[in-house]
Amino acid sequence: MSMAPSMTATSPTATTARRVSVAPPLVVILGPPGSGKGTQCERLVEILGVAHVSTGDALRREVRRDTPQGRRAGAYLRSGALVPDGLVLEVVNEALQRHRHAPGILLDGFPRTVGQAHRLTQLESAVRLAAALVVPPATLLRRLAERGRADDQSEIVHRRLVYYQRDTRPLLEWYAESGLLVHVDGNRAASEVTTVLARHLQRVGVGAHRATT
Ligand code: AP5
Ligand code: MG
Repeated sequence: MSMAPSMTATSPTATTARRVSVAPPLVVILGPPGSGKGTQCERLVEILGVAHVSTGDALRREVRRDTPQGRRAGAYLRSGALVPDGLVLEVVNEALQRHRHAPGILLDGFPRTVGQAHRLTQLESAVRLAAALVVPPATLLRRLAERGRADDQSEIVHRRLVYYQRDTRPLLEWYAESGLLVHVDGNRAASEVTTVLARHLQRVGVGAHRATT
């Protein structure tokens, strides 16, 4: 796995710039497919003025544009398998660079494995909070069936849930051990979930309150 040069530069100039720069704090939004990660991040962007980085959205955009990254990612997305770390890290690095002046960045769909979480610790920005949305399986299945995205067919959803359990769920323990994890009941009206998440973000000093939910 290789990081973008901007994240690993070691020249004196880069080191000086790094010392004086204030990297945006990161908030990791965790949860299984259909738990509302994207929905909540969009709402929090409006309320708190933070940036939203969704690796799923970014990868789908590359596929639509038929870019080299999109061509490498397409088959994984269609089958519901995880995209290789190297490619995901390229996408994340580009997005973090783009949002380097934001008051905070919500990470939606990244990290998705303990390996990716390790890589995240090597970045300049630090994770301040990891919020895990809790939603029962029956609700997840219903929401995804109703949405009908290309990877929402039942067989592919099943695979995505298996990958979530096997590769992403261990992250809950990883972040709990660091004292960063909160569980949030995601099985209620979206506005109620947003209110709870916004309070957590403000508690850790991420984002400015611009409106009420
Ligand atoms: P990604 O796009 O991240 O998909 P996902 O994690 O499976 O999650 P979803 O986007 O399906 O659900 P969500 O939690 O965002 O819920 P949403 O708000 O949409 O990843 C897709 C693929 O990309 C992966 O399978 C993998 O191939 C690849 N990938 C991405 N990141 C990767 C990484 N780091 N490493 C490797 N591979 C990676 O809500 C779902 C529906 O429910 C919507 O219709 C919404 O309107 C509705 N809804 C939401 N909240 C509520 C509510 N409170 N009440 C009622 N309805 C609600
Ligand atoms: Mg999503």
